[in-house]
Amino acid sequence: MTQKKKRVQLKVGIVGCGAIGSRIADSIKKDLKNFCHVSGLYDIHEEKAFKLAKSLKSLKSVKTSLNDLIKSCDCMVEAINADNTKQIIAQALKAKRSVLAMSVGKLLDADNLFTLAKKNNCQILLPSGAIAGIDAIKAASLVNIKSITLTTRKNPSGLKDSPYFIKNKINISKIKKETEIFSGSVASAVKYFPQNINVAATVALASQCKNKLKVRILCSPHFKTNSHEIEMVGDFGKMVTRTENLVCPDNPKTSYLAVLSGIQTLKQYCTGIFIGT
Ligand SMILES: NC(=O)c1ccc[n+]([C@@H]2O[C@H](COP(=O)([O-])OP(=O)(O)OC[C@H]3O[C@@H](n4cnc5c(N)ncnc54)[C@H](O)[C@@H]3O)[C@@H](O)[C@H]2O)c1
Repeated sequence: MTQKKKRVQLKVGIVGCGAIGSRIADSIKKDLKNFCHVSGLYDIHEEKAFKLAKSLKSLKSVKTSLNDLIKSCDCMVEAINADNTKQIIAQALKAKRSVLAMSVGKLLDADNLFTLAKKNNCQILLPSGAIAGIDAIKAASLVNIKSITLTTRKNPSGLKDSPYFIKNKINISKIKKETEIFSGSVASAVKYFPQNINVAATVALASQCKNKLKVRILCSPHFKTNSHEIEMVGDFGKMVTRTENLVCPDNPKTSYLAVLSGIQTLKQYCTGIFIGT
């Protein structure tokens, strides 16, 4: 009699049970159940972890510390909005866990984390987010990229709590038509818009030429979507991409495509099938 071999499932721990963490957990249960399962949930606001665990019918997955979450998993999904994101990722890597990091903006200057991952034989997975063209940018980075610009258009309501709006005392009710509110380096963009412009860091890391990357942010109360345009010129030729993103119903700062790209990245990691990378 032949015995059916049971597939080894990846254990996924999720830190941050907000819009992205919840949707990834839900998708693991519904769509990725043949490849992985949620081994742990942790949120600084414990009630959020309990709410998610209840919807997954898995109350025992709630962990009361980051350490317990890390111990429970093979791969940690980071989906938090915090200042200590780098330390949290470092803790998982030190324990030899791979990390799917959503807060890419925090990894712009985190060479030490990439070195640690390599040393401990684990991986840092960065989703493409709500943009198109990361595959081409990575390929183009093998030769010379002459210029690269990311132009983001958002409704001012999605940016109003950003340090940039607060520092410059920008009154959103005074923005009546399309207005360029920011133009500068990727380092300034992630500093002043930490919750809104992760894609700028993704472009910088993929292109390996952050000093050439120009980031522009335009606002208008008439914008109904979060759009991202990338224009790149290099030895390969020219590329222009544009996405017009609907926002995630659970968090208007987050584009739905960014959530889907996180789920797809996890799926590729579980199945070992990487397309366009
Ligand atoms: N890569 C991308 O393209 C992209 C796109 C959108 C959002 N993001 C980033 O993903 C992250 C999550 O986004 P979201 O929409 O789910 O945010 P969210 O605000 O809906 O959820 C964040 C959750 O993290 C929890 N949290 C905060 N600090 C924590 C800590 N120290 N330990 C444990 N839990 C903590 C909060 O309680 C909250 O439940 C944010 O940093 C956001 O900037 C990335």
